[in-house]
Order: sequence, then C-alpha cells, then structure tokens
Amino acid sequence: MTIRSVVRGVGHYLPERVVENAEFEKTLDTTDEWIRGRTGIERRHIAAEGEYTSDLAIKAAEAALEDANMSVDQIDAIVVATSTPDSTFPSVATMVQAGLGSTTGFAYDVQAVCAGFIFALTNANGLILSGQAERVLVIGAETFSRIMDWTDRGTCVLFGDGAGALVLEAAEGTGTANDRGILSSDLHSDGRYKDLLYVDGGVSTTGTAGHLRMQGNAVFKHAVTKLAETAHKALDKAGLTGENVDWIVPHQANLRIISATAERMQLPMDRVIVTVQDHGNTSAASIPLALSVGKQRGQIKEGQVLVTEAIGGGLAWGSVVLRW
Ligand code: ACO
Repeated sequence: MTIRSVVRGVGHYLPERVVENAEFEKTLDTTDEWIRGRTGIERRHIAAEGEYTSDLAIKAAEAALEDANMSVDQIDAIVVATSTPDSTFPSVATMVQAGLGSTTGFAYDVQAVCAGFIFALTNANGLILSGQAERVLVIGAETFSRIMDWTDRGTCVLFGDGAGALVLEAAEGTGTANDRGILSSDLHSDGRYKDLLYVDGGVSTTGTAGHLRMQGNAVFKHAVTKLAETAHKALDKAGLTGENVDWIVPHQANLRIISATAERMQLPMDRVIVTVQDHGNTSAASIPLALSVGKQRGQIKEGQVLVTEAIGGGLAWGSVVLRW
C-alpha cells in the first residue's frame, strides 16, 4: 500500500493595504514602467502596523481549514515556512496553533527563504509518509516589508506581504503517477552563494533584524537555470514529463524568470499560474498564495498535475510535483 499526502483544502490572506508601483515614484528614483517592465509587478500588499506574520498565517490557515471542511482538532501538525517570524522564538507555527485554538499535535517553523514552502511541503509529506501525522497544515507566511531598506530601489519595489496555506491528508494510493497527492520532491541548496541574497542583521551577529540585500542580476541568472533543472528532476522522479503538466505554479519573484523557466520546460505561458502582478514577491507565501488564487480563478482543478518550483536565499531551491 502506498500512502500519499493529498491536498484537501487551500486558502490565503493578503493584508488590506495595497501599494501601487506609482507610490514609489514619490520617494525613489524609479517608475511604474521600470518596475512593470523588469519584473511584471504592478502592486503588492503591505501589512498594517501591529499586523504580524502569525496574524496573516492564522487567517490563511482558517481559510484552508474551511475549504477542507475540517476543524483544527483534526490537524496533527502545523508547519510554517517563514523568514520573517514575529519573534526570534517561539515559532510562528506555535502562535498559529494557539491562535486557531488547538492544544494538541505539534507545530514548528521551516526556514528556506523564498524556497521555504517547497521545503515545508516536502517536510510535511515526510511527516505523513512516516506515520507521524495524518493531517498537516502547511503554511507560507511572510512580512518582508519589515526587512526592506525603503531607500534601496533595487529591492524594496520587489517584495510584498501575505500568507497561503494547504491542508494535507494521508490517503491510500496505488503508487503510480495517477494517484492524487504529492508525487515527488527535489531539493537543493548551495551555501557558497550566501552573499547574493541575505539579510544584513541577525540575532547572533548585530542583534537587529537587519535589511534584505540582493545582487538581483546574479540571482536572476541562477534562477533561470536552476528552476527548470529542479522541475525536470522532480518530474522525472514522479515518472512524468512536461506533456503531463497541467500547471506550473512557480515562485512569484519576477515575470521574466517565470516565463524563461516555462520556455526552458517547453510549456506555454497559458499553463503557468501568474500572480506576481498583484502580490509582488511574498517569499515563502508566494506558492500557496498562487495555488489558492489559481483555484479561486477556476484554473486549478482536482486531478490536474502541478509542478511547483522556487529559489531563494541560501541559495536554496527545489520543486514539488503533485496531483491536485
Ligand atoms: N527603478 C529604476 N531603476 C532600477 C531599479 C528601480 N526600481 N532597480 C534597479 N534599477 C537600476 C539599477 O540601478 C541598474 O542601473 P545601472 O545600470 O545604472 O547600474 C539597472 O536598473 C539594471 O539593474 P539590474 O539589477 O541589472 O536589473 P535587472 O534587469 O537584473 O532587474 C531585478 C533587477 C528585477 C532585481 C532582477 O535582477 C531580479 O528579479 N532578480 C531576481 C530576484 C529573485 O528572484 N530573487 C529570488 C527570490 S528572493 C528571496 O529569496 C528573498
């Protein structure tokens, strides 16, 4: 008997405040045209003062539980992918657990920056396959607005805040790619590239949260080669090819990276879920946000094959193939 981790529900939450590109023209040497043309981003949501990563995560989790028609008592584990936790500790996941009113099961965070949701999903799948948990809430939640240098036009126009969540449940499968659920994962990291994308502060170094620093052009080059490679590897592991893919659900960092990856995978853009125009780069929240919006739009349907892929600070990157 093969156990599969099947998606039973999906949900998301975006903070109320929307910042259009034009707003940056008032304070920075930039234009709406540059931001749109170079990134595809038109607007992003920014968390309100006093609104924290855990608040976003709780709302996304509630939406996913409602979509799954489940109550929190049925959840055995909560895994949150984030690089912008409320506090150094405790984990955002335990805050979500308490916020949802659960006193059972266990909860913890996973940190792999923009690839965080891919790592968290793979980790949650491991909990289910090893019998540690039957139902797992997997959440990506970020408030990257809190680590922006608002004077750096090369980074602050790119990021946004938000959260997305999935409910995974153990189900019996046949062991073939016809099963619903997670079919394969492919994870990578290479710490030699830490200087390409990092935060210039931390608990053990400066004692401050710090600001995001990025060599955008160098990250861009890694992204276009590594994302298509990892997606192909994950498809191979699942025994599938590009022809079997209904949707690529990529990390939403830059439309040019998204389309270059689709081109390398020889898939047309009408098979790619794109939300970057409305959300900007929400780091670990971007893939679950795209899954939730894709379902809401009527694009993602039960039984379809999805390839999710992401790269971020570390560098860390990977891909998960699943049948919705
Ligand atoms: N407005 C106007 N000009 C700008 C802006 C801006 N907002 N930002 C940068 N520029 C300028 C630069 O100063 C530079 O000017 P110069 O030629 O006079 O020096 C010029 O535009 C070109 O800069 P590049 O950085 O080479 O521009 P590029 O085409 O590479 O686009 C971008 C920059 C959008 C950052 C792109 O490199 C990118 O998307 N990189 C990947 C980001 C990513 O995917 N990160 C991974 C995930 S994030 C995470 O893990 C947290």
